[in-house]
Amino acid sequence: MTDKVTEDRNTTAAAPPSGAAAADPAAAGEHPKARYVKKMFNTIATHYDAMNMVMSAGTLRYWQHAFQGVTGLGPGGHALDVACGTAELSLKMAAQVRPGGKVTGIDFSEAMMAIGRKKVEASPYGSMITLQFGDAMDIGFPDDTFDAASIGFALRNVADIPRVLAEMTRVVKPGGHVISLELSKPENAFIRVPYYFYFFRLVPLIDRMVGLGKDEQRELHPYAYLPASLRPLPGRLKLAEMFREAGLVDVKTRPLTGGLVCLHWGVKPPAEKRAKERAEKPV
Ligand SMILES: C[S@@+](CC[C@H](N)C(=O)[O-])C[C@H]1O[C@@H](n2cnc3c(N)ncnc32)[C@H](O)[C@@H]1O
Repeated sequence: MTDKVTEDRNTTAAAPPSGAAAADPAAAGEHPKARYVKKMFNTIATHYDAMNMVMSAGTLRYWQHAFQGVTGLGPGGHALDVACGTAELSLKMAAQVRPGGKVTGIDFSEAMMAIGRKKVEASPYGSMITLQFGDAMDIGFPDDTFDAASIGFALRNVADIPRVLAEMTRVVKPGGHVISLELSKPENAFIRVPYYFYFFRLVPLIDRMVGLGKDEQRELHPYAYLPASLRPLPGRLKLAEMFREAGLVDVKTRPLTGGLVCLHWGVKPPAEKRAKERAEKPV
């Protein structure tokens, strides 16, 4: 049974599962992990929400509720949901910024956002949420644009976590929050051991069940990638350190459900404080 998940501190990129297709000539120049992740989410988009609810046994709603408690958002705010997928967190933040607020979601999977747009249209927040193509590694908005920036269950999936955190920090206004809701590595062995058995041994079997008869799904092994993506994710405290290195202050972490999932958040300091810290940093 897998008890320890090794943490690779030099890279934040989980390799696609062996045998998984990564070649996509249309996306030449793209990081191989980004290419694989995009293709994989485009393939599983139609059953992503249902599978999440089943795999989390409904606990997802509680995690999202805890997320809402730390966004710092209020009526009239403008939030950015990075790697918004099917708009789960966009919808949660829209509820917080009404009336008068708006949410922009960015993702590089058009199939995930197509599902998200249907959910947005069917919600009371239709006019408040815009989902658009965008890369978490290079966020196409000016500095100091948003009152908060979130990333939900996606830091694991990016090729360079420090870069994404730096980008999120850049586009948030001073005083705004940068928040991550992400899977984590439980510190308590009584939780970690059975959880890792479920996650590393049972979850990959889903590939065989839902992917039966579908060539692309068989090729991509999305449910083998899911546990594999946890390996390079830094532990709770190391990730908090990365938030500080991105320039955030008052960084906090809150493990949820025994540490299966963890919230990290920090505040962007005023410009003068950032300039002072940069000046004091050893070269
Ligand atoms: C596990 S889903 C999470 C979706 C949503 N945030 C949620 O809470 O359900 C991960 C999402 O990250 C997106 N993603 C991964 N890397 C990305 C990147 N570099 N830029 C934009 N989107 C990215 C994928 O396309 C996918 O929709």
